[in-house]
Amino acid sequence: MCGITARVGTGAAIGELLSGLRNLEYRGYDSAGVATVTPDGINVVKHQGEIDVLCDAIDQSSVRGTTGIGHTRWSTHGPPTDANAHPHTDCLGQVAVVHNGIIDNYAELKDELSAHEFTSDTDTEVIPHLLEEFLSAGYGPEEAFRRTVDQLSGSYAIAAVFEGTDTVFGTRSGSPLVLGRASDAYYLASDVPAFLEYTDEVAYLHDGDVVAMHPDGYTITDTDGNSVDRPFETIDWDPNDAGKGGFDHYMLKEIYEQPAALRQAIRGRADPLEGRVEFEELPEDAFAGIDTVHLVAMGTSYHAALYATTLLSDRGIPAHAFLSGEYGSNPPPVDDSTLVIAVTQSGETADTLSAIRSIQGTGAHTLALTNVVGSTITRECENTVYIRAGPEIGVAATKSFSSQVATLILLSERLSYDTNGGTPRESSDLLSSLAALPDDVQRILDEPTAESVAATYHDADSYFFIGRGIAHPVALEGALKFKEITYDHAEGFSAAELKHGPLALVTANTPVFAVFTGRDDTKTLHNVKEVRARDAPIIAVTADRDTKVDDYADHVLRIPDTHHDVAGILANVQLQLVSYMAADMLSRPIDKPRNLAKSVTVE
Ligand code: AGP
Ligand code: GLU
Repeated sequence: MCGITARVGTGAAIGELLSGLRNLEYRGYDSAGVATVTPDGINVVKHQGEIDVLCDAIDQSSVRGTTGIGHTRWSTHGPPTDANAHPHTDCLGQVAVVHNGIIDNYAELKDELSAHEFTSDTDTEVIPHLLEEFLSAGYGPEEAFRRTVDQLSGSYAIAAVFEGTDTVFGTRSGSPLVLGRASDAYYLASDVPAFLEYTDEVAYLHDGDVVAMHPDGYTITDTDGNSVDRPFETIDWDPNDAGKGGFDHYMLKEIYEQPAALRQAIRGRADPLEGRVEFEELPEDAFAGIDTVHLVAMGTSYHAALYATTLLSDRGIPAHAFLSGEYGSNPPPVDDSTLVIAVTQSGETADTLSAIRSIQGTGAHTLALTNVVGSTITRECENTVYIRAGPEIGVAATKSFSSQVATLILLSERLSYDTNGGTPRESSDLLSSLAALPDDVQRILDEPTAESVAATYHDADSYFFIGRGIAHPVALEGALKFKEITYDHAEGFSAAELKHGPLALVTANTPVFAVFTGRDDTKTLHNVKEVRARDAPIIAVTADRDTKVDDYADHVLRIPDTHHDVAGILANVQLQLVSYMAADMLSRPIDKPRNLAKSVTVE
């Protein structure tokens, strides 16, 4: 869950290494460090804590190198301390290594390396000591690197530098690593924003690739040393896209990017006039013979998956959503009539990758629904559909949920053709509502009413979110967002569950958010009355024309009238705004909530 940066080229490396680390801060970290190759040897500076602390410690010796590696650590083995921070070195200080992930067999390797002096608690430190072994056996840096990597099992992205050479070596297995190419420099990083201000040319490395980059070029080879071609793509993300663009927080910026993101998600896929949906990236027969759909996902993506189960069931397709962390350890029966859809913004979530791996070889078909081009999940699944939301930096997922749900609505339509003899359903209402969705979201953003709700209730004891049908996952997502960034207790559940336990907690100091989507709502209104009878404040989220809850609610957050399949996306935007504003009023570190990271790459 950390960030790796590496750079070779003309001029000092340190500035670009540090700016790369700052651009990867969103991934979450507890320590940071850099190593530069200087004429006097490898210079390592590393510290527990913020990148600012690291910057204060940078001295003249670090500034001299043109080649270097950098790291933000998210501890898995050993507490966040200066000693455990990366880069790690060998006994002689002739190599320095940064690593993301976990080396599963580090304990055995450490036993074999008992003659070496270890200075940290990390699994990572076996890597520089293994490199030292191979260097002292007479191998050159590249061969030593390759032989070291051969010894490792686990999930990792690694970058290493060696004394006396301006080549950086890197490899990956289960953790992301991308190569960037500028006119006078090459970069390695965990994610594109690290070097986007220097180049938009990116090559995505695959598991097992070994890259050697030096000021005049690079090579990429597979595990056996054969050259492999990883073509460069031009990324059309503006560097400002990866910055805050004038907003106080990435989260708010991303909430406001939703109209544009939704346009991208829908563009070229839905034709309201023809009443037809097409995904050009999917083969014609992508869903032939499918009679059951499983969706595997975590967190916000799981809520989007749950939303999709209702969409699919409505279209006569049996569908189940699973937490991928549960699915992977105990997969249900599947066969070649099952489609397993991995819903993951990052495409790197370890639980979701494991879930997909757990059903490989069963005949089940797999589809990745992700935001990140070239992410690991896209290589694990037979087919991929991108949600096209653009980079999402805030740890709290916002625009990715809207784009996931919009794409899943389209995908449910497309899937229904195959269960319907190839014929589109009568769905022009739905497709027109989808076409209007970006403008409908814009209307909510232009006239935000959430602020007064946040101002009235942001210091309550506890918050509940309820809804039925499609409003149920929206309630779950509303509560997840609220707790994630305000640190207040918030719980979401089906309105049907209220009387079966949670009602015991409802008091005058527990605001209840009730989500209405225009379907399955009558009983939710009964639940609202039950809550009101216990004096709890009620904040209803409901359509402009739907006034049935008005007499029972203390506040009403309006959403434009639309098709009920789409209404959940609009209701969720209102809840995103409430969470954001409440967290801002409480002065929480909204983009980097405590204990959380953007990309959860260990199980
Ligand atoms: C959402 O706000 C969270 N940060 C988290 O639940 C996230 O949705 C989850 O970790 C899944 O991530 P993914 O979509 O990248 O797989
Ligand atoms: N397992 C390594 C450590 O604990 C790397 C963790 C990371 O991905 O940052 O240091």
